[in-house]
Amino acid sequence: MNRLKLAILISGRGSNMEALLHAAEDPAYPARPVLVASNRPDAKGLETAAAAGVPTAAVDHTLFGKDREAFEKALDAELEAAGTEIIALAGFMRVLTPWFVGKWEGRMVNIHPSLLPKYKGLHTHQRAIDAGDTEAGATVHWVSPGVDDGEIIQQASLPILPGDTADSLAARLLPVEHKLYPEALAKACATLTSAG
Ligand code: GRF
Repeated sequence: MNRLKLAILISGRGSNMEALLHAAEDPAYPARPVLVASNRPDAKGLETAAAAGVPTAAVDHTLFGKDREAFEKALDAELEAAGTEIIALAGFMRVLTPWFVGKWEGRMVNIHPSLLPKYKGLHTHQRAIDAGDTEAGATVHWVSPGVDDGEIIQQASLPILPGDTADSLAARLLPVEHKLYPEALAKACATLTSAG
């Protein structure tokens, strides 16, 4: 079976990345990790990935000032050197330029903590609570030029409980994300492989 070479981009804790690495321990999983990269050299997830034996790279965006594309070119060089075939954004907190999205479009997915198309951007949990929603959730989608705007691959939801805060909701949602992301990424791989 041809397993797609997977790069995971993170900025912090990396718990979704860990869920993907765990799923990919199964030799039947359709992707195998070749790189975990972070724009923050101190991201906790880099240590987790290294401990799991996955190659890591830190490309510090602050070294490139306001030049987003220069940062992305450095990141892209790491992705290419690793032979990346599919990218999973997992808590990667940089807005990507049209150049980078254009280069990887159709081969890059993201997990967003809301039931898209609701609540693109930040503070999704608080916004769902403030709106009086009865359910929240997470979405895995293809990355397109608009922020959190690409075609939806899979969603998972959970009820918002009376008294929920943004923190309590985020904490209950996290294990839901950890189940959702490996499933959705497998679907994305199947689409890519069947597209040849
Ligand atoms: C997750 O809630 C994810 O949906 C969002 O950022 C958070 C990242 O958490 N995009 P982690 O770094 O995967 O633990």
